[in-house]
Amino acid sequence: MNTIDHSEINRICVYPTASETAQAVADEIISLVKRNPQAAITYPTGETPIPIYSAISKMVAGAEVDFSLSKAFHLDEYYPCDPTESFSFVKYLHEYVFNPFKIPLAQQFTIDGTVKDGRTEALRYEKILQQQMIHLAMLGLGPGGHIGFNERNTPITSRTHVSQLSEETIYRDHVLRNLKTPQKGITQGIATILDAERIFLVAYGKAKGEILKEALYGKITSWCPASALRLDGRKVTIFVDEEAAETLTS
Ligand code: F6R
Repeated sequence: MNTIDHSEINRICVYPTASETAQAVADEIISLVKRNPQAAITYPTGETPIPIYSAISKMVAGAEVDFSLSKAFHLDEYYPCDPTESFSFVKYLHEYVFNPFKIPLAQQFTIDGTVKDGRTEALRYEKILQQQMIHLAMLGLGPGGHIGFNERNTPITSRTHVSQLSEETIYRDHVLRNLKTPQKGITQGIATILDAERIFLVAYGKAKGEILKEALYGKITSWCPASALRLDGRKVTIFVDEEAAETLTS
């Protein structure tokens, strides 16, 4: 593993491949849960964490770590969205996190995308988060530097809210991923995410490296939501593969 120095970020860890990056993140999460079995963790969805979740699932299946006392928190959801939809993030969390990690129902905290009033649901979820120290928030990095569904121009002070997805995100979902996803989401806000004790941001590949470069070396601005992580960069660890890192340093 190599590191890249950054004046505001605690650590930027670089691994040769995406799968080695994922394994390193999985190892960190496992050691957190071993140290604190009741850890509260925010889990993102998407492609980035799949190898991380599968590495953790193997360890849980082999009884090498126990997540059954930990609490799992949802980062974001499409809105409106029924959990039976193929793209539902609740469905994803059940498949990749809650079931394989054996996290009991009472310790699964999810955003309900089926409600009539998304704003009330966002407030309900924010209240839960305010009553709970999140020990670790894991994040992927999306189009335009979004974290969760905090799209470009989301205020850095935002709390859990209904968000209008950006054209870039909708293009990725509808065209590149061929999913008929809704055009809104409910997401933990940027300030909500920054309340976590520690934050991991994970990114693989050249395209993500370019977004990350904007987030790490451009202005701290709501135009690039991930740049806000630098406001409290001592709690942030970034995990990237060499491909993303090359873009960062070029
Ligand atoms: C998903 C989420 C998003 C993703 C981002 C990257 O819960 O919060 O911010 O992390 O869109 O998605 P992938 O990993 O699919 O490239």
